[in-house]
Amino acid sequence: MKVFLDTADVKEIKKWKEMGLIDGVTTNPTHLSAQGGNPTKIVQAIAKLLPKGVISVEITEKNPEAVYKQAKAIAKLGKNIVVKVPCHVDYYGIIAQLVADGVKLNITLVFSLAQALFMSKLGVQYISPFVGRWDDIDVEGVDLLYTIRHMLDEYGYQTELLAASIRGVRHFHEAIMAGADAVTVPVEILEKASRHVLTDQGIETFDNDWKKLGIRTFP
Ligand code: E4P
Repeated sequence: MKVFLDTADVKEIKKWKEMGLIDGVTTNPTHLSAQGGNPTKIVQAIAKLLPKGVISVEITEKNPEAVYKQAKAIAKLGKNIVVKVPCHVDYYGIIAQLVADGVKLNITLVFSLAQALFMSKLGVQYISPFVGRWDDIDVEGVDLLYTIRHMLDEYGYQTELLAASIRGVRHFHEAIMAGADAVTVPVEILEKASRHVLTDQGIETFDNDWKKLGIRTFP
C-alpha cells in the first residue's frame, strides 16, 4: 500500500522521506496557497525530493481547453508528476484525451461509485474518493472505499484506489481495511498513527526493569 503525505510543506516532506515512510505527496491548491511563494518552485522542489515517488499536482484552470493545456504543462514538470483533475463532467472529454496522450492522472473530488466507475473506464491512474468531506455532512465516508474496491476488483479495472480527505487515524485504518491501493495522510495524522501510547509505556517499563539488574554492558 502506498502512503502519500497530504501537504505541500517541503520541510515536512523531507522529514518523512528520511524516515522512509512515504511513497509520494498529494498537493492541492489549498496546500500550495498555505505555503505562499511560487507554487511552481515548490512543486519542483517536492518532485526533486522524491524522484521515485508519486507527486500529485492539481490543475487550477476552469475552462476545459485551458485545463487540458495546463495538465500537459504540469505533467512536464517531472516524470514523477501525476496531474490531479476534479471529477467534473465538463472535464470527462479532456480526461479521456489526457489518458490517450499518456498523462498520468489522479482524479480528485470523487464522491460516488458512478464517478469512480466512469473514471476507471477512462483508464486513469488514480481515483481519490474524499472520505472526510462525506463525514462532514454526516454520511459514513469510508463506505465508499469498500464499494469502490469491490467495483474495481469485480470488473478488473487497473485504476488505483487512493483514499483521500483522511481526518483521523480511524480513517487511515479503514483505508487499509478496505484494501485501498494508496492513502494520502495529513502530517498530524501520520504523526499520530506512527506512535502508540502502549509502545511508549512498554519501553519505559522494560527500561526501568533493566536498570534494576545493574548491568552496564550488554552483550
Ligand atoms: C488529497 O488529494 C486531497 O486534496 C485532500 O486529501 C483533501 O482533504 P480535505 O478534505 O481534508 O481538504
